Amino acid sequence: MQELTIVQTVADLESDTRLDPVVTQANRLYSTLFASRRLRDLLHGVPLGHPLHPLAVQVPLGAFTSSAVLDLFPKTARQSKLLVGLGIVSAIPSIAAGWVDWLSLHRQQQRVGIVHAAANATAVGLYVISYLQRGRGHQASGRLFGYAGLAVMSIGGYLGGHLAYRQASGANHAEDVPHLMPSGWQVLAPLEELPDGELSTMDVAGQPLLVLRRGHAVSVLSNTCSHLSGPLNQGELVDEESGSTCVSCPWHGSVFDVETGAVVHGPATSPQPRFITRVQDGVVQVQLPGADG
Ligand code: FES
Repeated sequence: MQELTIVQTVADLESDTRLDPVVTQANRLYSTLFASRRLRDLLHGVPLGHPLHPLAVQVPLGAFTSSAVLDLFPKTARQSKLLVGLGIVSAIPSIAAGWVDWLSLHRQQQRVGIVHAAANATAVGLYVISYLQRGRGHQASGRLFGYAGLAVMSIGGYLGGHLAYRQASGANHAEDVPHLMPSGWQVLAPLEELPDGELSTMDVAGQPLLVLRRGHAVSVLSNTCSHLSGPLNQGELVDEESGSTCVSCPWHGSVFDVETGAVVHGPATSPQPRFITRVQDGVVQVQLPGADG
């Protein structure tokens, strides 16, 4: 089956450097606006365990679409206006979550993301006009602006799909590790060969692992950051207020507990695969629970 023309058009946006001045300005603006790490973690969806944005958009999408259906029937003006209003208000947190995720993407993803955001902002603008027109009693033009909003929102949705599935923004980039690691204990290295108190990386069964030895204790995580595959061994060790030792990803600053692999700070929302370890005859062995590779 042949691809639609729009597929290549959207793919071309990834390398369209004409978008870069806008991307740079938006980076500046939204980095300042969302400077609070606590707010960013919330909007990324760290407490949810996956990105908040795709969940948050369900409310405005549902409200706008329902309003479009109601507009096909007589005597539904009041209910339809209410749904348009709900869509506009509920779009605010989903837009905020989208921008926070956007700040921690690769440039190719940001280019597509900025067009996705522009399409959705246009759609919301059209719905605001639709709402105002309905409030003034101009039902026909209110409906027309609503349908125009729906059409533009569909383009924004297509771009969002490209970002999420083709460019894998928001996906867990460490999900495949258990399927690539063999089950059972695997040899890592002699304990004495591991640097003490420093992050290092070692390959086991072709998988890069992050290793932190502290005396006789060895903590091991997948080295591939679950956010966008950054190399964690090139990050920094940080001590969190909770007292846990963590690693900060060098690419976008996600922070993971070295002992458990849990996400302490986003943009990552999925934990790092965490290996259990043992020392036998001076040799460190690792095992990934659930590995079936
Ligand atoms: S790759 Fe983005 S935080 Fe690690």
